[in-house]
Amino acid sequence: MNRIFSGIQPTGNLHLGNYLGAIRNWVGLQDDFESIYCIVDLHAVTLPQEPDELRRNLREVTAGVVAAGVDPQRCILFAQSAVPAHSELAWLLACQTPLGWLNRMTQFKEKAGKHRENAGLGLYAYPVLMAADILIYRATHVPVGDDQKQHLELSRDIAGAFNRQFGVDFFPLPEPQIFGAATRVMSLRDGSSKMSKSDVSDYSRINMTDDADTIALKLRKARTDADPLPGVPAGLAERPEAANLVGIYAALEGSTVAAVCAEYEGRMFSEFKPALTELAISTLAPIADEMRRLMDDPGHVDGVIADGAKRARAIAEPILAEVHDILGFLRPGRG
Ligand code: TYM
Repeated sequence: MNRIFSGIQPTGNLHLGNYLGAIRNWVGLQDDFESIYCIVDLHAVTLPQEPDELRRNLREVTAGVVAAGVDPQRCILFAQSAVPAHSELAWLLACQTPLGWLNRMTQFKEKAGKHRENAGLGLYAYPVLMAADILIYRATHVPVGDDQKQHLELSRDIAGAFNRQFGVDFFPLPEPQIFGAATRVMSLRDGSSKMSKSDVSDYSRINMTDDADTIALKLRKARTDADPLPGVPAGLAERPEAANLVGIYAALEGSTVAAVCAEYEGRMFSEFKPALTELAISTLAPIADEMRRLMDDPGHVDGVIADGAKRARAIAEPILAEVHDILGFLRPGRG
């Protein structure tokens, strides 16, 4: 049976990259797979968080995911910290993970910066917790943006190492699902860095909560070049900002970069940007409205994730018990 797992951090500013790279694909997959989607608050605290803000962000990201079309009736949506089996499996997998594998992780190097000695153990172990998130449900498919590729390869390596170490075929090797025309949405200010929640410039990203005027302003100011649009995708090769906007357009429209190039061949950005703006607003404005409506009803949002946590625990706990058996832990005294 195919089971999907994916996660998103509750660190504020849900943006267009999260939507096009991940959430929209979650929505598309929920009918065909058993889908489990998680707001990963344990990952969020690998960097300092202000408690009230974390609480608010958790509700906001949940609201955003639901507003975008993830249906908590058809899938499981919950907060990671509400299912302790994630943390426990992370420890057990950490005991099987060579340091050399973690030392290769580029995201740790980026986030730890120059003062690596001061970085927390949690930040270093982050990818092991991510592997545990997936494997505690024995998930087979993981829809993510391109930036999570290396972490997913590590999850596969960890699953394989566990199976080999204990001579079992217990954990499936999870398949990354990276698809759509915008698997890596770039900053609107700099086509060489990805759109991110942590970018200091709000003009670098379109937030899911931005109103129509803000979206229009940000796209008007988005960096481009002075050349007309090419007729084929190869013509975007050395034009990162142009490639980004065309990719966003294609993803929003549900078409391909090739189709957008064919449609806009020879046109200037002065013509393309208004079309992109209209498309972005018509897609995102209803989501932002629904998100605001849900944010006004935190009791409802809390109910959604409470129910999700119950259903997630019911899947995760028996799998953790099997892991205990595989490792040789004794049963007496356990619930
Ligand atoms: P996070 O919270 O950074 O991002 C959530 C999802 O959004 C995608 N994404 C993007 N896609 C395209 N362009 C962008 N600019 C962009 N920025 C973000 C991410 O690829 C991701 O799919 N470590 C993960 C969360 C996580 C997880 C997991 C994911 C924890 N456990 C288990 C899958 C499976 C993260 O920080 O995502």
